[in-house]
Amino acid sequence: MEQDIERILFSAEELAERIRAMAEEINRDYAGKEPLLVSVLRGSFIFMADLVRQIRLPCTVDFMAVSSYGKSTVSSGAVQITKDLSEDIFHKDLIIVEDILDSGNTLNYLMKTLLARNPASIRLCALLDKPERRKVPVHIDYRGFEIPDEFVVGYGLDYAERYRNLPYIGILKPSVYGK
Ligand code: IMP
Ligand code: MG
Repeated sequence: MEQDIERILFSAEELAERIRAMAEEINRDYAGKEPLLVSVLRGSFIFMADLVRQIRLPCTVDFMAVSSYGKSTVSSGAVQITKDLSEDIFHKDLIIVEDILDSGNTLNYLMKTLLARNPASIRLCALLDKPERRKVPVHIDYRGFEIPDEFVVGYGLDYAERYRNLPYIGILKPSVYGK
């Protein structure tokens, strides 16, 4: 696994420090409220687990899954909900927790779908942002890091379902996906 990584972008320590700061912002912004954190599976499961443990407010969590790229590293643009939320979000203060924003297709679609269910509010918390790749505009309220247009894995992010268990985020060698 390690030999497939070109270089480490963010170490486990750097990730922990940044996520602590993001949680602090959420703690301040949602004081007196009880946010519902929605993790977009599967890429955000580790980020969600680390983020929520730094939140010192009453909060709830829920999970949804959308169709991924499969074994490709490029978004097809078509988004499908493969697992919906378990709870009603009417009048709730939602924080969408996402691993990475690439084209923005997934989040643009998700935001529209969730807004139609009339929550009190929705904000987006994304660990990584690849702004160069954006095709549809998406507003990020809490952003971890901006990254260049490279395919990254680790800390929940995969290529063909592998590498999610790496404790850091690294750039995958293009030779791994046949470039
Ligand atoms: P978007 O709809 O193009 O913004 O794609 C977002 C989704 O694509 C993310 O939630 C990831 O699952 C996946 N993705 C995009 N870029 C990467 C990457 O560099 N590594 C791993 N997954 C990625
Ligand atoms: Mg994802």
